[in-house]
Amino acid sequence: MRIVLIGPPGAGKGTQARFLTERLSVPAISSGDLLRAEIREGTPLGQLAKQHTDAGELVPDELTTTMVTHRLGEPDAAAGFLLDGFPRTVRQAELLEESLAEGETALDAVLAFDMPDDEIVQRLTGRRICSGCGTTVHMVFSPPRVPGQCDECGNELTRRADDTEETVLRRLAVYAEQTVPLLQWYADRGLLLRVDALGAVSEVTDRMCAALSLMTP
Ligand code: AP5
Repeated sequence: MRIVLIGPPGAGKGTQARFLTERLSVPAISSGDLLRAEIREGTPLGQLAKQHTDAGELVPDELTTTMVTHRLGEPDAAAGFLLDGFPRTVRQAELLEESLAEGETALDAVLAFDMPDDEIVQRLTGRRICSGCGTTVHMVFSPPRVPGQCDECGNELTRRADDTEETVLRRLAVYAEQTVPLLQWYADRGLLLRVDALGAVSEVTDRMCAALSLMTP
């Protein structure tokens, strides 16, 4: 299956992608993770992207699309994929559609996570990410056993540079302006499935799976 996850920052896309990728046996590809890897490696794309990500703004469409479509060309994505955080604008969606059509494929579904803004600020300002294995935790909702240390591998838990309250509020505004129009674009194509992202992680997983099975023949 070829699936896109859309949702405001902190709606739980990355958390849910971990479950769905196992269930569907397809790779989860996060545009945010790909950009952060470029930033860590100090590539020209990473240097340009950092200015945008640190400010909570979107990285230009052509750059993100080239990066993601290149990743989709790798063998593990040939039979399907789960895209997390891409596309984020109508322009990116058009470019993705064109790229998939060249390979005579298309998306099967777009899952849109719904979440109120006040919950998002709480989720993101409390998020910590393991510098070793990438596990995501929350200081209140899923705190580590030892403060500052990953339960899975013992490495240090870090905070993303764009998870400050000020930048989260900017990311939310950018989502409303530039990504919300994409929901109607996918609804017009009969691909959009809405998922209530409030509640326990397992409840959201169940809703997401139910939404997907409704669309399978
Ligand atoms: P990106 O990395 O994609 O960030 P995002 O979309 O803002 O989403 P997040 O990763 O912050 O949140 P999430 O929904 O995955 O939530 P998570 O599961 O971690 O993008 C970062 C930046 O890169 C962008 O701002 C932009 O600059 C750039 N970029 C990326 N893609 C781009 C594109 N296509 N075009 C242009 N620019 C692009 O959960 C959050 C927290 O909540 C965690 O602590 C988690 O433990 C907790 N949590 C999750 N689910 C629950 C639950 N059910 N109950 C309680 N807590 C929960």
